[in-house]
Amino acid sequence: MALARALLAAVSSVARHSESKISIAQRGFASSTIVNGVPVEVHNDSGSKRVVVTKSLPGDRWLQYLVNADCRVEVCKHPDIILSNATIKQLLGTKCDGVIGQLTEDWGAELFEALRQAGGKAYSNYAVGYNNVKVEEATKRGIPVGNTPGVLTETTAELAAALTLAAARRVVEADVFMRAGHYKGWLPTLFVGQLLQNKTVGIIGAGRIGAAYARMMVEGHKMNLVYYDPYPNKQLEEYIRLYGELLRHRGEPPVAVRRVETMEEVLQEADVVSLHCNLDASTRHLINSKRLAMMKKDAVLVNAARGPCIDEAALVAHLKANPDFRCGLDVFEDEPAMKPGLADCPNAVIVPHIASASMWTRSGMATLAAANVAGVLSGYPVWNKVDILPFVEKPMSSVPQAAPSIVNAKELGLKLVADA
Ligand code: DGY
Repeated sequence: MALARALLAAVSSVARHSESKISIAQRGFASSTIVNGVPVEVHNDSGSKRVVVTKSLPGDRWLQYLVNADCRVEVCKHPDIILSNATIKQLLGTKCDGVIGQLTEDWGAELFEALRQAGGKAYSNYAVGYNNVKVEEATKRGIPVGNTPGVLTETTAELAAALTLAAARRVVEADVFMRAGHYKGWLPTLFVGQLLQNKTVGIIGAGRIGAAYARMMVEGHKMNLVYYDPYPNKQLEEYIRLYGELLRHRGEPPVAVRRVETMEEVLQEADVVSLHCNLDASTRHLINSKRLAMMKKDAVLVNAARGPCIDEAALVAHLKANPDFRCGLDVFEDEPAMKPGLADCPNAVIVPHIASASMWTRSGMATLAAANVAGVLSGYPVWNKVDILPFVEKPMSSVPQAAPSIVNAKELGLKLVADA
């Protein structure tokens, strides 16, 4: 019996080892150390370039990019979820070639100066959005800034769709009610919400994520689309037009798409409004009390873009005054805090900035961020093309020799793959 147990243990240990062999090899035998008082996990100890990663990242592929570029990788293990500039500066130390940082960090003059002084030549945000980065401060110091477009599209759009449905059909309120043991039997009036089928969905911003969300709502719920974007999205319009034709052919009511000249038209017409714009000075408090008042009394407002696009205090007042108005929020104005009163509004569905949180997307973001830093440190040209998937999906032996997405490539005069 004892022998059998020992054999079983040996066999499962061999199995475990062969499963983890690749990842151990890729991770180059991680060890732990302390850098200026900050604990870090070290990979590829002997790498000649030092890259600091301010948070643990999902997957393994990202590490391969950095190890293949001869980088020693130090992953911060500090217990604070949001690192202060002081902690980040401690981590950078006096020699740091590149950094992968987080959207919760304040990458401005102070940190880019510290990075420059440490000999840094590359920074990548672990995010597609980079409103936490003062790109001009990096550019001034000759530091390329990477981001991670192209792998968040469907995942983020799915969460926006989930928030839409949860808000319209009061899923969270009903869940809370159920768990509290309040359900005593079926009633015609229990948690009555809004039907989306054949209604109108509005989007503000028809880029990749906005367009993916719009298609989900149009295809899934046969909603008409009204959108506001300074640039027309002809592909999206054509897709919906053809889908409308298909429905007509089948004898079903067709769907329609319309781009309007003002955001106000979207707000007035749509039953559901979802925000898909970048955050900048022009979109801060885009949704304010005046614009909320233009929306239908029982509309659904969704935000999986950036918190400050909505005046959150005004939204709380609106939710309180209009119990049939609903919202689904993934992001918050003073993240991680919420404005007073929001958590008490049963007509708000609130989740902690998880729109990109699918394993495929989060490990894809890590891969792109690492490939940005590794690519710049290897002196590769910049890819900056819409199709980013070769970096994420091709065997490592045939990935493009390029930095996938550098937002200040033009300002820094970096060579693009197209002209390499
Ligand atoms: C991004 O990448 O900008 C997202 O907000 C992360 O979820």
